[in-house]
Amino acid sequence: MLNGKNILIGITGGIAAYKICELIRMFKRNNANVRVVCTPNALNFVTKLTLQNLSQNEVGVEEFNIEQFKPEHISYADEADIMIIAPATANTIGKIANGICDNLLTSIACAFTKPMIIAPAMNCGMWDNQFVQENLEKLSSAGYYVLEPDEGFLACGYNGKGRLCELQKIFDKTVNILNGEKFLSGKKIVITAGGTIEEIDSVRYISNYSSGKMGIALADEAYKAGAEVILISTVNAEKPYGVIKVKSAEDMKFAVENEYDTADCIIMAAAVADYRAKNIANHKMKKADNVENITVELVKNPDILQSLCKRKNSVLCGSAVSDTVKEKAPVIVGFCAESENLIENAKVKIAKKGCDYLIANDISRKDIGFSSDYNEVSILRKDGAIKHLDRMSKNDIAKSILKEIYG
Ligand code: CTP
Repeated sequence: MLNGKNILIGITGGIAAYKICELIRMFKRNNANVRVVCTPNALNFVTKLTLQNLSQNEVGVEEFNIEQFKPEHISYADEADIMIIAPATANTIGKIANGICDNLLTSIACAFTKPMIIAPAMNCGMWDNQFVQENLEKLSSAGYYVLEPDEGFLACGYNGKGRLCELQKIFDKTVNILNGEKFLSGKKIVITAGGTIEEIDSVRYISNYSSGKMGIALADEAYKAGAEVILISTVNAEKPYGVIKVKSAEDMKFAVENEYDTADCIIMAAAVADYRAKNIANHKMKKADNVENITVELVKNPDILQSLCKRKNSVLCGSAVSDTVKEKAPVIVGFCAESENLIENAKVKIAKKGCDYLIANDISRKDIGFSSDYNEVSILRKDGAIKHLDRMSKNDIAKSILKEIYG
């Protein structure tokens, strides 16, 4: 699988350093050439001799141990196809995120231009620290692959998030990246876009200002990342992937539900009208000279997102649900357009709708949202976690959302 690939592993000073011995063996068993570089503190947890024996290469620690014509950090960086920093301590994460190079490992990381995986491991309080999270976010947005730690019993005696993720996860991610597999290969993603159009008569309708740009950006980015994409849109879009043009909320519901069974993920980015005309005249309604006011009676539209979540959650709550059924259930993502109290309203909405993720955006701002090419959102997760994405292009927001779900 990894024949001839050059993998550079950076080990920093955390107790999980001992686990990296096994990771080196996993790579070696798959014919990779492994080089190891340690921070001086890492050697408090694992010996240089062990790492040298397992990697069958000299282990780098000191920065000014230059035997070749090239400075050591440059030759390490040039030689490797990928760099993995595991375990990555809060300290090293902070240095890399801020361009600090005060040892061989951080100097290599700074000079490294190829893919880099960062697998943090630390005490749960350190993990929750605002600055550590900001540094990680900075790295994720810059394209580093951050593999979140697992929850569980930590070496420091606490129970919480901070354990180094499974070695298999680091291994699989490395193989995927090195084999050029795009991160959404094999996934089918269904995305809705645009404002629904609810007819009143043959020439008039109720709709909203949604341009469909966010949904289309998500569809484009998912496609670029290797997914099979179905865009269910109220706006025209000529695309190399599947596009189903719909008009009303009811059309959209029908189209989305048709895709449900084969979808890995459904993203409801469309602005669905909450109400539609009760009766649609099949001709143009005429103005009458003696009628000053007319009333169009509206009835409630189905809530597509909520009914998808109900369908998913009722299957998952059934007795004796197999793991295959659980794995097959699509990840469901909603959007939430609010003009005030964004996060409070979004929290209520994610609980009410029952989706896995809710992307909240503030539609009162003129510099983002409806019609704009930019957006600024908060991603709410079912487990209560919230991640804020600063203002950036809708395509970059789309990439970050997809990475958050599948990264
Ligand atoms: N949505 C839906 N069906 C509806 C209304 C909304 O599927 N009839 C979806 C949207 O696509 C979006 C999410 O629900 O993913 C939230 O939409 P939003 O307009 O923010 O919320 P509403 O449920 O319509 O509530 P309100 O308008 O009161 O804020």
